[in-house]
Amino acid sequence: MEMKNQIHLLDCIDGMEMMDAGSVDLIVTSPPYNIGLSYSVYDDTLTRSEYLDWMGEIAGAASRILSDEGSFFLNIGGTPKDPWIPIDVAMEFRKRGYILQNMIHWIKSIAIPRSDIGSYNQNISGDISVGHFKPINSKRYHNDCHEFIFHFTKTGTVPIDKLAIGVPYQDKSNIGRWKQATADRRDRGNTWFIPYETIQEKRPHPAVFPIGLPDLCIRDHGIDRCRLVLDPFMGIGSTAIACIRLGIDYIGFEIDASYREIASDHIQREMRRRGDPGPAEDSLLNRVV
Ligand SMILES: C[S@@+](CC[C@H](N)C(=O)[O-])C[C@H]1O[C@@H](n2cnc3c(N)ncnc32)[C@H](O)[C@@H]1O
Repeated sequence: MEMKNQIHLLDCIDGMEMMDAGSVDLIVTSPPYNIGLSYSVYDDTLTRSEYLDWMGEIAGAASRILSDEGSFFLNIGGTPKDPWIPIDVAMEFRKRGYILQNMIHWIKSIAIPRSDIGSYNQNISGDISVGHFKPINSKRYHNDCHEFIFHFTKTGTVPIDKLAIGVPYQDKSNIGRWKQATADRRDRGNTWFIPYETIQEKRPHPAVFPIGLPDLCIRDHGIDRCRLVLDPFMGIGSTAIACIRLGIDYIGFEIDASYREIASDHIQREMRRRGDPGPAEDSLLNRVV
């Protein structure tokens, strides 16, 4: 059965079982964090051990379909009260044989006082405070301004295309000074500042990631080595939109028909924006149930 470029209304473990072994080069996803969010169908209040067992099953099913040179970028965060969630989940992946090749921090908000920038950068004239900042009412905890993006691979030796997501040197005198610095582009490192897009209307989903997140993961893995991207928890389609923009095939699973409907609207809108009428709605929302 042709599954590509569709979001299937399916439990992701069932969906992954329908896919061929080794057929996916890149998995980018953000599962539920088990923090009691109000999804419209999914119940985000499992016991910790039920949740971790489930995450282990996801890791196992994904390992079968991930190619040997593939990457699994797992975005997950905790809460100020329960910061172990992402670490516990990463341990489940470790038990299933994955190697944590890169541990990336998704920085949602950052403050840099001008005085810490130093004198070499004259372009920055004032304090910087950028990104999404949701105040919390607590005497104990700092605001949670980051999440993890765990980059798992099967061997720990998968080459990545670092400079595809590289950044220009702030201090241009570095170009040519170091042997490897032949152009005005350096490794971005493992702290990725990715702001949310500002949305004015009511939030259609309680836990989306910005399209910039899957976009960076895909380009970091390397577009040329990416036949097919899977997002087993597709939500309202952020990974699908990133794939369409980069011209890469994707497969998504989502158990909530209303989120899948919104994803379909987003995909249709993206196709129209690109001057492509896109596939008929029926073929996009393949009704495999
Ligand atoms: C954190 S959200 C992902 C949001 C997505 N990254 C986006 O930007 O829209 C997790 C999603 O997983 C879905 N979900 C929960 N259990 C699932 C399962 N067993 N199979 C597939 N999807 C599931 C939820 O309905 C929710 O939309």
